[in-house]
Order: sequence, then structure tokens, then C-alpha cells
Amino acid sequence: MMTRRQATTGILASAAAAAAGSAGAQVPGSIELPAPRQEGGKPLLAALKVRHSTREYAGRPIGRQTLSDLLWAAFGVNRPNGDRTAPYWRHVMVLDIYAATADGVWLYEPKTHRLVPHLPRDIRAETGTQDFVASAPLNLVYVAHGERMTDIPPEERRLYASVDAGFIGQNVYLFCASEGLGTVFRGAVDTAKLARTLNLPDGQFVTFAQTVGYPRA
Ligand SMILES: Cc1cc2nc3c(=O)[nH]c(=O)nc-3n(C[C@H](O)[C@H](O)[C@H](O)COP(=O)(O)O)c2cc1C
Repeated sequence: MMTRRQATTGILASAAAAAAGSAGAQVPGSIELPAPRQEGGKPLLAALKVRHSTREYAGRPIGRQTLSDLLWAAFGVNRPNGDRTAPYWRHVMVLDIYAATADGVWLYEPKTHRLVPHLPRDIRAETGTQDFVASAPLNLVYVAHGERMTDIPPEERRLYASVDAGFIGQNVYLFCASEGLGTVFRGAVDTAKLARTLNLPDGQFVTFAQTVGYPRA
């Protein structure tokens, strides 16, 4: 039987191998995600009816198609002009989503719907102060480009970036409610330490994190 780590690694590693051989890969080792499903799922009201936070996760990995759909629902491109599934501050693109998995950290690139390798190691335990984050298959980390929020003071940068993250977080909640996945949006994060772990450049900062996985039965 595969361990959780092997299962998750297998999904991403095989995708990376496929991406490495495909034309147009921009960063070596990038994962070209399958086209996201943009229809189906539970009706909105049915998803709202079951939306909730989950803090106990099963070892079952998240499949590649589901990961693709999840990231698209979170903050993917939903219009020809490049705009997104979540609203964002002043039409300035401030938020990046990092995906922390057993086999490393990936930056989601919405324009190309790819995962770009960021760190080759498992930092899940560092994405929060609660025990379940270390073993859940996926922790999303919402990172803000403060340096792009030029004409407002730093405390307002955190406020507006947090609102952007909150909208993305609710998209993730609703997608998970629709798909039978569990999730929890998290502020219990040592954001300064996590920023160092992620090697974020000056100006960028961690807002919140969000765990995703199948709920433990
Ligand atoms: C800004 C914010 C920060 C949160 N931080 C955490 C957290 O660090 N850890 C956690 O387990 N839940 C966290 N939550 C989830 C809330 O505890 C949860 O949404 C609330 O208890 C209501 O439960 P429900 O989501 O199941 O309806 C956070 C939610 C929000 C909106």
C-alpha cells in the first residue's frame, strides 16, 4: 500500500514529468494542470448549506483534476481579460497562492494554470500552529505583494490583502463543500517565520493559510 506521502508525490511527480516534456513549459519542473472543470458541482445554495470548517483529515490525497478545479475556483482566470473568480483590491493583483504539499511548495500561476516549483521540501508543519497542518495533503498559503500596494500605509496593506485572501478562502470553502472536501481558513500562523521559510522577498508577506483534504470519516 502506498503511504500518503508516496501517493501525493506520485501525483505531482508524474505531472511534472509530463510538463517537462510538453512544449511551452516556462519553468523547468512546472506542472501543467489539466483544464479546470468550470461547470457542475452542487448548486450554490446546496453548497452553502453544508459549508463548514474541518480540522481532522484523512490520508487520502487530492487528485490532479480536483487540485486543478480547486485552484481555478480559488483564484483562477474566469474571463478573457484575465480577471479572476474572486474580486480583488483596486484591480491590482496582490495575492499569490502557494500550495504546500508533501513533495514541496508550488506557486499557482493562474494565467497559465500551472504550478511552478518553489521549494523542494515538505514545509506543511510550518504553515500553521495546529497539528493537523503537518499531515493534511494540502495547505494553501496566501501571500501578498505589499510592494504593489504603493499609495497606502502598511497597516492598510495588510487589511486589503486580508480581504482579498478572505474572498479566495470562501471560494475554496464553497468548492470543498461542493466536492466533499474538508477545509479550514487559518490565521493561527507564524506569518513572519513562514515568510522566511518561503524566502519571500522584501515587501511580500503572508496573510492567511488554508488547509484542504478529505475529512477523516
Ligand atoms: C479570519 C479567520 C481566521 C481563522 N483562523 C482559524 C485558525 O487559525 N484555526 C482554525 O482552526 N480555524 C480558523 N478559522 C475558522 C473559524 O474558526 C471558523 O470559521 C468558525 O469557528 C466558524 O466555524 P465554521 O467555519 O465551521 O462555520 C478562521 C476563520 C477566519 C474567518
